[in-house]
Amino acid sequence: MSVGGKLSFRRRARLVEASGLPVIEGGEDPPRLVTLVPEEFEQVEIEVGPGKGAFLIAAAEARPETFLLGIEAAAGYANLAAERLQNSGLKNGLLLVDNAALFLRDRMDPGSLDRLHVYFPDPWPKRRHRGRRFFNEKAPELIHRALKPNGLLLLATDNAAYAGQICRVLGASPLLSRDHAAEAELRSSPPGHGFSPTDFERKYRIEGRIIRRYAFRRQPGPAQE
Ligand SMILES: C[S@@+](CC[C@H](N)C(=O)[O-])C[C@H]1O[C@@H](n2cnc3c(N)ncnc32)[C@H](O)[C@@H]1O
Repeated sequence: MSVGGKLSFRRRARLVEASGLPVIEGGEDPPRLVTLVPEEFEQVEIEVGPGKGAFLIAAAEARPETFLLGIEAAAGYANLAAERLQNSGLKNGLLLVDNAALFLRDRMDPGSLDRLHVYFPDPWPKRRHRGRRFFNEKAPELIHRALKPNGLLLLATDNAAYAGQICRVLGASPLLSRDHAAEAELRSSPPGHGFSPTDFERKYRIEGRIIRRYAFRRQPGPAQE
């Protein structure tokens, strides 16, 4: 699942063919979010690393008033998810091949998202790769900048050590606050509202792994107010 050292830079478009699928290769100069979302959508959500797209498609189906953008670093997965999205007939979703951390930083106006979903982010277990984790020290500011006031970050992981890092980094920031009520509500909501279903979740459930799910709400903060 790893995208190796290619995460830190943007490449010339090459892997996504002009296929008519709902997928865009960001390449070296990805489009800005505002150019990707059709005007009729006020609710916009991004999923970081949607993989084969199970959550993105369930969310697009469950909430047709919301536009779902999946930012996937691996072009092969983005294509697969786009094929599944097209087969579903849904029009409120799109895949973009890019590094989501870069996209959130430089391709979006502040306060653009109602929700940000990150399910089973690569844990990069080797010490020398830890810098590639999505939830690093810079994550609170990046997420705070991306979300609308009161917006929600939803995430899940099976990796206990990474869960510890996530809670430490996000929990220490005044920019975000854990929302236990939202967690409880979304855990028992129908598919596509948050947390579930994802392809990795299915696999890990069968393996009996413990899955940790968290909701963090954006707080007022100096970055936007
Ligand atoms: C472990 S998989 C989980 C896939 C999916 N969320 C699921 O639960 O089935 C992690 C996914 O995140 C993607 N990914 C990793 N780092 C990324 C980044 N910085 N930006 C976008 N996608 C990323 C990987 O290519 C992979 O598809």
